[in-house]
Amino acid sequence: MSFVEFVAVAQEAARAAGRILQDWAGRFTVSEKGPADLVTEADVASQTAIFELLHAKFPEHGFLGEEGLSQPAGAGEFRWIVDPLDGTSNYVHRFPYYAVSIGLEHRRELVGGVIYDPTRDEMFAAARGAGATLNGQPIQCSCFAPLNKAMVIASFPPGVSPNSEPIQRFLKVLPHAQTIHRSGSAALNLAYIASGRLDGFWSSSLKPWDVAAGAAIVMEAGGRISRMDGEPLDLYLPDLLCTNGTGIHDELVGLLSQ
Ligand code: IPD
Ligand code: CA
Ligand code: CA
Repeated sequence: MSFVEFVAVAQEAARAAGRILQDWAGRFTVSEKGPADLVTEADVASQTAIFELLHAKFPEHGFLGEEGLSQPAGAGEFRWIVDPLDGTSNYVHRFPYYAVSIGLEHRRELVGGVIYDPTRDEMFAAARGAGATLNGQPIQCSCFAPLNKAMVIASFPPGVSPNSEPIQRFLKVLPHAQTIHRSGSAALNLAYIASGRLDGFWSSSLKPWDVAAGAAIVMEAGGRISRMDGEPLDLYLPDLLCTNGTGIHDELVGLLSQ
């Protein structure tokens, strides 16, 4: 099977998971994994649906899901990296900016991903070498540059403290960017960079399931991904800078790695 065919199955799983999230809306209960780090029954139900569908089709594939589900990759060396609900805090508050994120790794390299926004019925997808799409139509990153013409998003970990590095980085960029936001869904931020709706995003607190699908999609849409000091991204380290691939990348490296 090709990467494109695997990604088509992931889209099916993401849609099923999105239906589950919408079905749970308004009747879930909320627990805290840590201060301000929320989880609901919907997170778990979504992950179960994704795992069951992918495992039934590809029993030899590994799985790494945020909600405590992990299975090593078998002979084919494929592994799905899944956030069944990215943006749980938004979901809980009915702020419509959350998504299902499913990335695919082959021999530890990202080869595909899907991010599904059930509120808008938007499916962002990419397979390595086949380009990135939104609901089947090709997408590309924006050309906005330099930074004073760009819209960027900063990310803070749950329960961030006032004097922490993420806040200091935010303050450094603040006077240089045209617009700066905090959104609550890393996966959708990456999907929005891939589709030209956002120009840059950085974080020092993400996990592989927040980034895997989005990184695969952004790379196919002409964007650039690195650590905040410009070194190559390591999916397993919490250090990400993603942009539309213009000169704003180096501008942000200069500000964020000072
Ligand atoms: C969170 C979101 C948020 C980021 C947090 C993540 P969750 O994921 O991606 O944007 O700032 O660090 O934990 O908990 O909603 O899946
Ligand atoms: Ca997440
Ligand atoms: Ca999550």
